[in-house]
Amino acid sequence: MAFVGKGGSGKTTVSALFARYTARRGRPVVAIDADINQHLGMALGVAEGALPRPMGAHLSEIKEFLRGVNPRISSAATMVKTTPPGRGSRLLRLEEPDDPIHAAFTAATPDGARLMVTGPFDDDDLGVACYHSKVGAVELYLNHLVDGAGEYVVVDMTAGADSFASGLFTRFDMTFLVAEPTRQGVGVYRQYRDYAAGYGVPVAVVGNKVHGPEDVEFLREHVGEDLLVCLEHSAAVRAMEQGRRFTLEDLEPANTEALGRLLKHLDAQEKDWPRFGRQAVEFHLRNAAAWADRATGEDLAAQIDPDFVFGPTRVSLLR
Ligand SMILES: Nc1ncnc2c1ncn2[C@@H]1O[C@H](COP(=O)(O)OP(=O)(O)OP(=O)(O)O)[C@@H](O)[C@H]1O
Ligand SMILES: [Mg+2]
Repeated sequence: MAFVGKGGSGKTTVSALFARYTARRGRPVVAIDADINQHLGMALGVAEGALPRPMGAHLSEIKEFLRGVNPRISSAATMVKTTPPGRGSRLLRLEEPDDPIHAAFTAATPDGARLMVTGPFDDDDLGVACYHSKVGAVELYLNHLVDGAGEYVVVDMTAGADSFASGLFTRFDMTFLVAEPTRQGVGVYRQYRDYAAGYGVPVAVVGNKVHGPEDVEFLREHVGEDLLVCLEHSAAVRAMEQGRRFTLEDLEPANTEALGRLLKHLDAQEKDWPRFGRQAVEFHLRNAAAWADRATGEDLAAQIDPDFVFGPTRVSLLR
């Protein structure tokens, strides 16, 4: 799932709380920091010196591994962020994450989630023609991941144009839009919803920093049925920001309950593998035509393997 929203709405905070909550229930969780400001590690309680290697700085290494022996991908250099897996590609799983990607690019966190980070963004990372896009590492990771029920990848993202420029925003089973009860907060929701609707991308709104019934009422009025839960303004989160040690037990019961409802909502969501595969191809073709054919000097449509099946079937065939 992705957490998106306006700057400062609480994407990082809610991503981290949700990842902690879910990992503590014994579920495999990978939390990915794909935001411009890289704060997810801190919110998960990871010390500065214990952060993982940034994926965005090692794109070639990641591509080299993922392309495996896929004959349609001639080199790591011709593999772009939207290049879909095909037969011969290496697929990743959360069940036994002992592959070189999880081994090299994740770090442990106190509640048991594994942290991955893109690394901080620079100007080159924003916009459609970003060949070296750091968020591209996340798109490649998600495209090569065969995840099942009860396994979670939590991505802390920006809501901005960058995720729409590629296919990244279509890679999630659920997108949680974090919104403060303000006009700007719900404005971002409308933009995101309108764009995502055309692609069948499920979006639910998580109200955040809510102070009372008027705030909930405001959100409900503007967001309607898409409002899934609200997190209250949290003294425990504030204390953590002030440098106090934080554990999940410090979180207010109403906020813990809201995290539980997010998890339940997610677990009720069916994974739509056919959509996932169809859109991987659609966005790859679009990127190829827009810039990637030119940038690589190849016809990247030829990277698409028409007989590759996205999802768990593929894994059982490989075994
Ligand atoms: N429920 C909450 N209760 C109290 N403080 C909160 C809550 N949610 C977020 N905050 C605080 O609001 C500030 C912004 O939150 P956060 O960094 O999570 O937002 P963000 O959307 O990730 O921001 P950015 O766009 O800068 O990445 C932080 O100081 C955080 O501690
Ligand atoms: Mg953030």
